[in-house]
Amino acid sequence: MGLDVRFARRLLRWYAQNRRDLPWRRTRDPYRVWVSEVMLQQTRVDAVVPYYRAFLRAFPDVRALAAAQEEDVLRVWAGLGYYARARHLLRAAREVVQRGSFPTTAAGWRKLPGVGAYTAAAVASIAFGEDVVAVDGNVARVGLRLLGLRRSPRDTTARRAVQAALAAVLPPGRAGELNQALMDLGATVCLPTRPRCTACPVQTFCRARGTGRVHQIPARPPRYPKPRRRFVAAVVRDRWGRVLLVRQPSQGLWGGLWTLPYVEAPSWERAGRLLRRQLGVPLEADGLRLAFRHTFTHFHAHFQVVGARTPEPPRVGRFVRPDAETVPLPAPLRRLLVALRQQRE
Ligand code: ADE
Repeated sequence: MGLDVRFARRLLRWYAQNRRDLPWRRTRDPYRVWVSEVMLQQTRVDAVVPYYRAFLRAFPDVRALAAAQEEDVLRVWAGLGYYARARHLLRAAREVVQRGSFPTTAAGWRKLPGVGAYTAAAVASIAFGEDVVAVDGNVARVGLRLLGLRRSPRDTTARRAVQAALAAVLPPGRAGELNQALMDLGATVCLPTRPRCTACPVQTFCRARGTGRVHQIPARPPRYPKPRRRFVAAVVRDRWGRVLLVRQPSQGLWGGLWTLPYVEAPSWERAGRLLRRQLGVPLEADGLRLAFRHTFTHFHAHFQVVGARTPEPPRVGRFVRPDAETVPLPAPLRRLLVALRQQRE
């Protein structure tokens, strides 16, 4: 037991035969690899694939992206969540175009907005063949099991131990393959709750398996329950049934996207005054009441949605047809508007 070069050889052989056929694996174009890694940061492979394709249709290379408006980028990203990723990607694309080339090392990639240690290592190894290990949450789980370390995948010291152990057995020039092999192993075999150890190509190297502790590793990180916060959003329509949307500031929830006007408040009674200030006109509730929930990174949000009338057009925002695809809307609001339209039909 313990990792050695035979471990890497065996894992690479398994990868050659079992690798998932993913669209970003048919290229080593740094732009494409980069876009895929940014999308995959917080999102599952199945959810990413259609967005990856649509994004490359809209922005086929880094110049096209750099020349785009933020709103156009967010429109293509809308529904994928974590919109700061899209805004950073755009800023970074502009930096790349300005400097005239992509960075070729992980250290160079790290300097771009939105590129952390994992993404930098993934892109540098896959697109440029740099010998660096990319440890994301899944690879950390695989590594902790291999090493028999009962620690949390979020624990920085534990991640470093995994990184060092893998770096020590990295076959030169093949880090991109090894990194992706570890990702696939984590996604298809070394699963969080029901690992398929008998199908594992490197089971003989696994300390957790050797000591019967696969189910105890990784250690569960302490769970901090997310706080709940309440919001009230207004549906203000014009006489053609279009709905008032406002653009959110770049920083903050749904930054840069268009949403119903909303405020953080426990009830319509409390929200009315704040919304009035936001829109610059008085509002009066009409009959419509709906609710939906959405979980953000750090809290659970409960949205009460209230239909409202204004005596004159609001001073901010714009009226948009509820089925219009022309503005970037967060996915839960897109669903809400579709439901509202269907109710009226
Ligand atoms: N998750 C993060 N990066 C990935 C990649 N390149 N392939 C599959 N899953 C991933």
